[in-house]
Amino acid sequence: MVSSDHLGPDEEGQLMATVTTEGKKGLITKTVQIRTNDPERPLVILRLRANVIDPFHRGVTNARAIFSAPCSRCHVEKGLGKSGAALYQADCLLCHRRGRSGGSISEMKRLSRKDLESIIKYGKPDTMMPGFSFEIGGPLTERQISSLVRYIKGR
Ligand code: HEC
Ligand code: HEC
Repeated sequence: MVSSDHLGPDEEGQLMATVTTEGKKGLITKTVQIRTNDPERPLVILRLRANVIDPFHRGVTNARAIFSAPCSRCHVEKGLGKSGAALYQADCLLCHRRGRSGGSISEMKRLSRKDLESIIKYGKPDTMMPGFSFEIGGPLTERQISSLVRYIKGR
């Protein structure tokens, strides 16, 4: 958006550009091309650089925070009504994959069904693993939790 569509010699104007940062992280660059009738510089390219700071994941220490707004939009809503593999992908994979705080499925699989169920329901103390059971204010029903145990054990 420009403040004026006509500028005389030495006149100044303003140009407004909007950069969408949704889903982006870290250093990003956006270019804006300006075509002018200046015979020496018919095309000017502006490069806008920004460092997008993730507002949600700095200094997070309470795992249960993921169950309420604004965190639940990404951490809970995608798993609503799902079970098994799809539920695992929506709710668990965020933390349980390479480079993240939780272990892999092959590590979980070594636990007994009972321990697996209990950790998913009530969490793992002193870690960022929250208890997902509906009973204690989490988002998952008994059936959804059993479906996860079956999925993990079957892998
Ligand atoms: C816009 C979606 C989104 C929102 C909102 C969001 N998260 Fe996340 N979160 C993710 C994704 C995606 C990951 C997986 C890590 C990654 O890809 O960067 C993640 C990972 C995490 C992790 C695991 C980090 C690790 O290294 O294991 C924690 C803890 C977490 N989020 C907590 C929160 C909390 C608390 C909030 C609310 C204050 C929140 N998240 C809001 C998308 C989101
Ligand atoms: C916010 C991040 C986060 C989310 C979401 C999350 N976990 Fe975890 N989980 C962890 C962390 C951290 C640990 C502890 C890892 C450790 O002990 O080093 C853990 C531990 C576990 C353990 C115990 C593993 C062991 O060897 O002790 C199981 C089982 C588990 N998670 C299953 C799940 C399932 C199933 C889901 C999805 C419903 C899930 N987790 C979602 C972070 C998360």
